[in-house]
Amino acid sequence: MINGAMRRGNYGYDAPYVLILFASLTVLSGLGTAIAWRLLPAHAARPFALYFVLFLVNTGSFFYTTRRGKFLEWERILDRMRLRGDEVALDMGCGRGAVLTAVAGRLTTGRVMGVDIWSTTDQSGNAKDAVLRNAAIEGVDDRVRIATADMRTLPFPDATFDLVVSSLAIHNIRPLRDRKRAIDEGFRVTKPGGRIVIADIRATAAYAAELRELGALNVQRQRLGWRFWWGNPMAATTLLTASKPRREEGGPE
Ligand SMILES: C[S@@+](CC[C@H](N)C(=O)[O-])C[C@H]1O[C@@H](n2cnc3c(N)ncnc32)[C@H](O)[C@@H]1O
Repeated sequence: MINGAMRRGNYGYDAPYVLILFASLTVLSGLGTAIAWRLLPAHAARPFALYFVLFLVNTGSFFYTTRRGKFLEWERILDRMRLRGDEVALDMGCGRGAVLTAVAGRLTTGRVMGVDIWSTTDQSGNAKDAVLRNAAIEGVDDRVRIATADMRTLPFPDATFDLVVSSLAIHNIRPLRDRKRAIDEGFRVTKPGGRIVIADIRATAAYAAELRELGALNVQRQRLGWRFWWGNPMAATTLLTASKPRREEGGPE
């Protein structure tokens, strides 16, 4: 098993333009504060300082989450799942493999398939080669498979996977009805009795409603803590878990 605190691969930065924006605003508001403090009375300079602190905290939080926090949170999520090791798993929007390699590290005879369209806007240095390199560095390349595919039209037969995961990927799809298509696809390729685990921001309530409509069981949402905030609590990550019913539970024939 890979220790989440000891990742050796290079996993880039999520939404790098957001991090650059936060960092730029921190620098600008810092400069503004320094100038205002020299030229203005204290009460007029204080709002500049407030903005500086605000942007500094947002930058720090985003940086921490993308470089470390999300890895630690996923270790906890996967620990709680108690995988057997023989699962066939899918990571929808695997990027450079942060979650993919963590799942692979818990498999023995199982395999994990990662699919992505490799958007470098959504993750810096995003590429098929980058995830394969990370899988090799983490020593799990024998359990990893990669495909270039859009999660709205997954190239797999129904009921292929015991476990479907996705981290911070589905919200990148627009409009909302297309995000629902990704949820439908994830559910379709899950085996009866299999599990779906999604960490995302924004529309997780709509994903949960869609899963319930599809007949998923045990659909639960849980806001994750500060380690998975993208700047502040308003951009917290929510964990969505569900399972696909077996035939005897009313699932597909
Ligand atoms: C913020 S990154 C997260 C990557 C990875 N799950 C992680 O946690 O490090 C979002 C990923 O979703 C992928 N993505 C966006 N839209 C997609 C789509 N329609 N189908 C497959 N992947 C998609 C992007 O290319 C990117 O790799």
